[in-house]
Amino acid sequence: MDFLPLHFNLRGAPVLLVGGGEIARRKAVLISEAGAVLVCVAPKLEFDLTALSADHAWREKTFEAADVMGMRLVVAATDDAVVNEAVSRAAQAQNLPVNVVDQPNLSTVIFPAIVNRSPVLLSVGTGGSSPVLTRYLREQLEALVPQSLVRVAAYLKSRRPRLKAVIPDIRTRRITTEAFFAGPGFSHAEAGEDDLADGYLFEPTQGVGEVFLVGAGPGDPDLLTLKALQLLQRADVILYDNLVSAKVLDRARRDATFEYVGKQSGLNSTPQNSINARLVTLARQGLRVVRLKGGDPFIFGRGGEELAELIEAGIAFQVVPGITAASGCAAYAGIPLTHRDYAQSVRFVTGHPKNASVDLPWHEMVSPGQTLVFYMGLGGLSEICTQLIRHGKAVETPVAVISKGTTPESVSVMGDLETTPGLVARAQLPSPTLIIVGEVLRAPSVRPLLVKAID
Ligand SMILES: C[S@@+](CC[C@H](N)C(=O)[O-])C[C@H]1O[C@@H](n2cnc3c(N)ncnc32)[C@H](O)[C@@H]1O
Repeated sequence: MDFLPLHFNLRGAPVLLVGGGEIARRKAVLISEAGAVLVCVAPKLEFDLTALSADHAWREKTFEAADVMGMRLVVAATDDAVVNEAVSRAAQAQNLPVNVVDQPNLSTVIFPAIVNRSPVLLSVGTGGSSPVLTRYLREQLEALVPQSLVRVAAYLKSRRPRLKAVIPDIRTRRITTEAFFAGPGFSHAEAGEDDLADGYLFEPTQGVGEVFLVGAGPGDPDLLTLKALQLLQRADVILYDNLVSAKVLDRARRDATFEYVGKQSGLNSTPQNSINARLVTLARQGLRVVRLKGGDPFIFGRGGEELAELIEAGIAFQVVPGITAASGCAAYAGIPLTHRDYAQSVRFVTGHPKNASVDLPWHEMVSPGQTLVFYMGLGGLSEICTQLIRHGKAVETPVAVISKGTTPESVSVMGDLETTPGLVARAQLPSPTLIIVGEVLRAPSVRPLLVKAID
C-alpha cells in the first residue's frame, strides 16, 4: 500500500490553496464542504472564493515559502511546474501534508475520488497511477450506492443513544443492527419512515422478510434503473418472468436464488395464485425477495394483484418502476409517442384476444391525434387492423410492429392498417411484440428502415 487512507477532519482548520484557476476552484469547493478555512494565494483569482464561505481569504500575491506556516494542509493547483514544486518543498520542509494536483511525485497526500452520501463517504484511489481508472471505479460505485443511505445514516445516528440504552451489550447490539440491515427496517429508514423502522430496530421480529416488485425494463440491461440494480445486488431470492432477459439476470447478485415463474401463452405457465403464495412464503422465511417483471410492474404486469396478497399477509413491500415496453421500443426505434404535429395523446391498450376476439371500445380508439400502443397484440393483429378501419381510421394509417425491442435481436415491420398483418405473417416475428399505430410513425426521427417500409 503506497498511501494510508484516512478521512481528514478539517473543520475550522486553515488550509492553503495555491492557484486561482478552474482546478483550484474545484479543490476550493471540496475543501470548503469539509468546513476548512481556505487561504488562497494567487496573483489572479478567477472564481468567487468568499461565495463558498465568508471565512475564506484571498492573498493577491505570488507564492512564498512562508505562506505554508500555520497551515493544516497545503494544496497546489497551479499550471506552473516551478510554483508547484516550490509549494511541495516548502510544505514538506515543515512536515505538512501537501497535495499537488495530478502530481503524485510532489504530493504526500492525494485526493481520492469520492462517492458522497455524507455522512457516508466512499473513497477510491489508485495511488495516483490512473485518474481515469479512479473515475471509472467511482462511477461504478456511484451507481450501486443508493442516495437513500444519507437517510439511513441520519436515522441510525439519531437512534444510537436509545439503542445503547435498550441493548447495552455491544455484541448483541451489533447482531441486532446487522439483522436490521437485512430486513424491512432498512427500507423503511431509506424511505424516511423512521417510526416504522423503529419497530424492526427495537422490537426485532425474527423471520419477517420483504418483497420488492421491480420493473426490469424491456430487455436491454442498461435500461434497468439504478434502484433496480441496487436491489438486484441485495436480493436473497429473485422470482422472474419469461420477459426478463438473461442479460438483466446477469446483473443480479451471483449467490441469490433464481426462480423462474414465467407465463407464456401455449406453454407451461406458473399460475398467478401460486406466484402470489410463493412471495408470501419466501418473505415469511425472512428473505429479501425481488419479484422481477418485464417492463414496468404496474403496466399490464399484474403487479397490483401480487401486492394485494402481500398486504393481506402483512408483508412489507416496495415497488420500483421500470421502463415499459412502449417507452423502450419507441425510443430505440426513434418513434416519438406524442408529437405536436401528429399526436397529442398516447394510449396503452391490451391487444390480447379473449374468446378469440379483441374486445375494445373501438370508437374511442379511432379518435384523431392519438397514438395507440398495443401490448400482447400479435395474435389479434388482423382483428385490430380490421376494427380500426371499420370504425373509421384511414387505411393508410401507419402501423409498426416491433419484436424484441431494445435488444440486439430486435426486428421490426412497418406497413399500414391494410398491409401490416400480411407483412408480419411473412416475417414470422418472434414474441414479444409491440404494435404502434398512428401518424407519429411519419415523424422525421423514425429509424430509416421503418420509414422505408411505409413509403
Ligand atoms: C404481460 S405484458 C407486460 C408488459 C410490461 N409490464 C411492460 O411494462 O412492458 C407483455 C407484453 O409486453 C410487450 N413487450 C414487453 N417487452 C417487449 C419487448 N422487448 N419488445 C416488444 N414488446 C414487448 C409485448 O406486447 C408483450 O406481449
